[in-house]
Amino acid sequence: MTYISNDIVNEIRSRTDIIEVVSRYVNLTKKGKNYIGVCPFHDDHSPSMSVSPEKQIFTCFSCGTSGNVFNFVANFEHISFIQAVMLLGEKLGYNLSNSNALIKKDDYFEIYNLANKFYQNSLNTSLGKNAIDYLKQRNIDKETIKKFGIGLSVQKLSLTDYLKNKKYDINKLMDIGLTNDNGNDIFINRIMFPIYDLSGNTIAFSGRIYNTKDTSKYVNTKETEKFKKGKILYNYHIAKEHLKKNDTVIIVEGQMDVIRASTIGINNVVATMGTAITKEHKAIIKNMTKRVILCFDGDAAGEKATTSAIAMLEDTDLDIKIVRLPNNMDPDEYILKEGKSGFCSQLDAAYNLIDYKMELLKKNKDFTDIKDISSFVSSAIKELVNEKDSIIIELNLKKIATSFGIDYNTILERYNEYKKDKKEVKKKLDVKKSYNRYSQAERNLIYYMLKDVTVLKMVERKVGYFPTKSIRELSNEIIYYFHKYGIINIADFISYISNKEELYDPLMDIIAMNIKDDFQIKEIEDYILVINEYHKEMKVRNLNQKLKEEKDPLKQAEISLEIMKIRGVKDDDTRN
Ligand code: GTP
Ligand code: MN
Repeated sequence: MTYISNDIVNEIRSRTDIIEVVSRYVNLTKKGKNYIGVCPFHDDHSPSMSVSPEKQIFTCFSCGTSGNVFNFVANFEHISFIQAVMLLGEKLGYNLSNSNALIKKDDYFEIYNLANKFYQNSLNTSLGKNAIDYLKQRNIDKETIKKFGIGLSVQKLSLTDYLKNKKYDINKLMDIGLTNDNGNDIFINRIMFPIYDLSGNTIAFSGRIYNTKDTSKYVNTKETEKFKKGKILYNYHIAKEHLKKNDTVIIVEGQMDVIRASTIGINNVVATMGTAITKEHKAIIKNMTKRVILCFDGDAAGEKATTSAIAMLEDTDLDIKIVRLPNNMDPDEYILKEGKSGFCSQLDAAYNLIDYKMELLKKNKDFTDIKDISSFVSSAIKELVNEKDSIIIELNLKKIATSFGIDYNTILERYNEYKKDKKEVKKKLDVKKSYNRYSQAERNLIYYMLKDVTVLKMVERKVGYFPTKSIRELSNEIIYYFHKYGIINIADFISYISNKEELYDPLMDIIAMNIKDDFQIKEIEDYILVINEYHKEMKVRNLNQKLKEEKDPLKQAEISLEIMKIRGVKDDDTRN
């Protein structure tokens, strides 16, 4: 076990200046109390990362990556937290080699890099002949094979043996998804497509069958510490390089679609690899570009994926266009059939968002049937209620009016009605949102507990119980830490919980909220009131439920009295 005591970790941290360390990697400019720079953890264009000399932490307001100096170095160098502690400690002259003895540097990338080369090499052996034939038959030439690092897994050439001979630990190979529990290769007899992370490191594979039958056409590496399907886009690192020239990113489903597009010189393409677009994808895309074209498969599944991608992306300032390919074709098949010019015409003729939505609404409608017309018109107007551009709204309303011979005023009236309804729904939602004041209060309290011991002690004394589990645990840890060390600050507390993901992630969320640093004790008291009120509210809710179920009038009266008590009586334990 690697062990460096918390005291040493804190000592190294306090003797290290985060500004000085971060400046070694990123240009920082002073701005007010803080320093700002371009964030190295996402594809940042304007400086979104702020480093605080006072708090000794960094935060990126765009991608949310935050932490202390060790987290910065660990993230940047792709090493573990403890390794970052050692790296910075040794610069200060600490001899940590004893604790060092059992630490190996994280060899994930190294192993995957070797695996990638191994598979590529296997494709070029005599055992790869059928696979090469398969690729040839799919019009994938040597150059493309090389460009995408396409390789082959073969039964007779064991990757696991190869890596074991290189002295890599079998447990590690199992852990990172290359070897199964029996000690054999995960991938056998598949064409191997390496998957890269945003920086271009190999982190996983997608393997396709080519000469065997299997229920899974593709098998992907299981999710590992570094490979999370929802957080990567296939071909991102190459597409990103091409975006300077051509500021649109094309999103497709499969890696074969990406690869095919590249054969006709279109490189600004990424693939979701068959998963739905996630919030993390959204953040990545927003940082890449302002314009996207969704070009999913032409089948029904592709249409569904398009709808869900739109739902995920439309609340951004991205300009979203949509291509729907004919005859259930995917981009790969379409390009093979219609060539570059055909595909480019599809891209040029892509729908804008509102037109696409209108087209979708028209699907399966019989426009000789009055009922269908009426239902289309209603849903089309409802859709326009969400549109912001007043010119687009008016043009579309007019189009609907003329297409169906309806008076424009009738259409406009309906539009105004829906608009009003929407506002009322929004109001209701806003009221609901104010319930979030509990969670706001919780997070503010956690932040100020780390800033000021007075707050910590107030929370310890006055807050019965935080409603949210992770906040409750954070609060317990903060109080425990303070009693153990007699002192607390945010940077050292981060070190303390850096190996507890369930606490680390919520705390990073809180830091990324950018809570103002100065506060009044009155505000703290208010937050505490809000939290304690939550419990009162819950009690009242439970009693109300009981009241509803109770038949006996006497007991009903008792419950009512209890509710009144809770509502009316000042809550003593919230005011000392
Ligand atoms: P080809 O058949 O080689 O042309 O691939 P495709 O891109 O047409 O595949 P498809 O449209 O069926 O799937 C799109 C993407 O989903 C693929 O690129 C894979 O990443 C993923 N996928 C497809 N089939 C499977 C499967 O059986 N298992 C898993 N895990 N992923 C799959
Ligand atoms: Mn295909």
